[in-house]
Amino acid sequence: MKTLVITGGTDGIGRHLANTHVRQGDHVVVIGRDGAKAKDMADGPGRLEFVRADLSLLAETRAVVKDLLARFAAVDALVLCARNYRSARTVTAEGFEENFALFYLSRFLVSHGLRPALEAASAPVIVNVAGPGGDLSLVRWDDLQLEHGYQGGPALGQGGKLNDLLGVSFAAQHADGATRYVLVHPGVTATGFAGAYDQETLAHINHMKQHGRPVEDSAEPILRLIAQPPAEPLSAFVEGERISVRTTGFDPAAAARLDRLTRNLLS
Ligand SMILES: NC(=O)c1ccc[n+]([C@@H]2O[C@H](COP(=O)([O-])OP(=O)(O)OC[C@H]3O[C@@H](n4cnc5c(N)ncnc54)[C@H](OP(=O)(O)O)[C@@H]3O)[C@@H](O)[C@H]2O)c1
Repeated sequence: MKTLVITGGTDGIGRHLANTHVRQGDHVVVIGRDGAKAKDMADGPGRLEFVRADLSLLAETRAVVKDLLARFAAVDALVLCARNYRSARTVTAEGFEENFALFYLSRFLVSHGLRPALEAASAPVIVNVAGPGGDLSLVRWDDLQLEHGYQGGPALGQGGKLNDLLGVSFAAQHADGATRYVLVHPGVTATGFAGAYDQETLAHINHMKQHGRPVEDSAEPILRLIAQPPAEPLSAFVEGERISVRTTGFDPAAAARLDRLTRNLLS
């Protein structure tokens, strides 16, 4: 029996991964804001556990990490799926731009925070489901929280790139560890697309809901990566196909710069 933690596991791709593993007999902790969404999820032969947390808040993210570390000696897989699109810039009660806090900072905290429990598993893996690829011009280094000229699409694009760099620095810092860091772009997938959209974006989202790939298809390569993590400390996949992490978009110096900035921000 494996133990999995899935952020954003109550909807879309994360929900499918959670249901599949519970049916396989695993213990799956799903994290989200809305417990009602977890009510009709798979309930055996494994175990599904819902943990309520708003991961756009650092205090709630840190509390979840603390709770999970206290309760689980080992975690086999951490899957990062929580995201929430915002057409308009939104600031959390803690003063962070919401997309930056949820899509990047919480993934940073959960990845590094749960590492001790991951290291205790036999073939541990972190699957960060976002959008690997693209180049570093997606990052606004002088305005990471997008105070000027915010737009929802580029905010999401920057978040994806920050997660690529998180993977690079995690793998570099823990090259001697057992935990594999895997960056995954699932492709356009027909999910709930959590978020608050303006009219123009909503039309595009409705189109993707109708024409995106079925969740099962996007989840299938991720299930394989969880079952058999790649040998390399860091790897990246787009719609199931491996892409190189040796390109300039995964620049170690940029990753180290972001890691420093992030630790300063969090301290
Ligand atoms: N769908 C696509 O076409 C696509 C394309 C490229 C990449 N991706 C990536 O794939 C991953 C999964 O996407 P998806 O489309 O399957 O997601 P989704 O259906 O939109 O579900 C998002 C999940 O995140 C949770 N969530 C949202 N805000 C949260 C918060 N503040 N705190 C905690 N949980 C929160 C939601 O639950 P609650 O509402 O209960 O909080 C829900 O479970 C994402 O990382 C996304 O970036 C998706």
